[in-house]
Amino acid sequence: MYMTELLKKAYDAEEFRTAGHALIDQLANYLNQAYQGKGPKVLEWKSPEEQLAFWQNYAPAGNAPTPSTKLFADLLQHSIHLHHKQYMGHQVAPPLPHSALASLLSALMNNGMAVYEMGPAASALEKVVAQTFTRALGWGEAADGFLTSGGTLANLTGLLSARRAKAGGDVWNRGNSEKLALMVSAEAHYCVDRAVRIMGWGEEGVIKVPVNERLQMRTDLLEAYYQQARQAGIRVIAVVGSACSTSSGSYDDLEAISRFCRRHDLWMHVDGAHGGGAIFSPTYRHLLTGVDGADSVVIDIHKMLMAPSITTLLLYKEGLQAYHTFSQKAQYLWEQSGDEEWYNLAKRTFECTKHMMSARVFTILHLYGTQVFDDYVTTLYTLGRTFASMLQQQPDFELALEPQANIVCFRYRPQGVPQQQLDALNSRIRRKLLEGGDFYIVQTTLHEQVYLRTTLMNPFTTEVELNGLLKEIRTLAHGL
Ligand SMILES: Cc1ncc(COP(=O)(O)O)c(C=O)c1O
Repeated sequence: MYMTELLKKAYDAEEFRTAGHALIDQLANYLNQAYQGKGPKVLEWKSPEEQLAFWQNYAPAGNAPTPSTKLFADLLQHSIHLHHKQYMGHQVAPPLPHSALASLLSALMNNGMAVYEMGPAASALEKVVAQTFTRALGWGEAADGFLTSGGTLANLTGLLSARRAKAGGDVWNRGNSEKLALMVSAEAHYCVDRAVRIMGWGEEGVIKVPVNERLQMRTDLLEAYYQQARQAGIRVIAVVGSACSTSSGSYDDLEAISRFCRRHDLWMHVDGAHGGGAIFSPTYRHLLTGVDGADSVVIDIHKMLMAPSITTLLLYKEGLQAYHTFSQKAQYLWEQSGDEEWYNLAKRTFECTKHMMSARVFTILHLYGTQVFDDYVTTLYTLGRTFASMLQQQPDFELALEPQANIVCFRYRPQGVPQQQLDALNSRIRRKLLEGGDFYIVQTTLHEQVYLRTTLMNPFTTEVELNGLLKEIRTLAHGL
């Protein structure tokens, strides 16, 4: 009676079947082309204004026979193409197609996840996924974790747990009673700084420890910075290790950070949003030596572990800590209180409603096991080293530093161009690359100089595309 004709049509299962088959065919064709570097360019550049105008003037589907087909084709065309083997830009993975299928399923099921009955399967899978990772980290049975919406939120949540555990007093109910701070590398992702300010610790609350030549935290300075803060009446409660840092892919010395945290009874948090997945690579796992000493670790599965965005794990060595983060109860009740219900996830997550993220990760584990994580990380980190040695053989290119991960920073430095013009030259090259759309790379600033920055995210990328990129840069530079 209340069901309108329009609603019936919008929910029609048969229309969904037809449109769905058409979309999957379209996406499979698209993938085949992208893997070969054919089909659409990595990015058909349009200015933001042009893009807005295109969509503002987009005609409604009306009564077209398969109404969504044109819209989906246009969405595809107007997006950036992460599966294209010349995509080498930001740290977002080309997702595994099956994981994307799990995403489609979870989008349709729309289980809200806050409480068990609003996501029974996905809540249980979340525990299974977390256990896979806590074991890989080398933690014991007390460890646990959950999925949350991105590395930024996961870092904030982990640091809120740190505050609850180490600030002293009843910080959740009464607020900060002292000046609090954490220590972090000057090269850390900006979201750590943001988390500190959200927690109300202000500028003084984020103590940025200088980095060495390799852009890793100078852990030899931790003690001095710690004592300096104490003398200024600031209580340091945590150290954040970057594993790895965003701009250059450098891993902090987690073992040294762990020793320091133990000595002063501090919370150790590891931002492994990008590089935490290396725990699955026997070849590169050593970069994370010391991670087992952390109290909390963040790993973005949508970065180096091939799930669609956003899918992030926040893991705790002592799983119970996560129940205290948002708990109204007084601290003296902190031991096991009996209401730590692993299956009611909103007790621990910032979000109330969230995606069924576990379905995406579990699908990968179910189909390919953790071996596929090893294959992906190892392939791309090794490709990073290959690219670095290619660059070192080119007299007109300069490698910023030996990469530890799949992030390679370099710049074009042809003979005859004065040092002070190199920043502008490289910025212009990056702009031209963006507008040309055949390759997608980004830029960064290291040691106060502009560098071109590639993150090799696509396992279909080889030396051929990397050589092609260098050739393209030379050509563009000559036209400037
Ligand atoms: C080291 C690091 N931490 C945190 C983040 C933020 O993660 P997200 O984009 O998932 O919020 C990033 C993103 O690039 C990162 O590289």
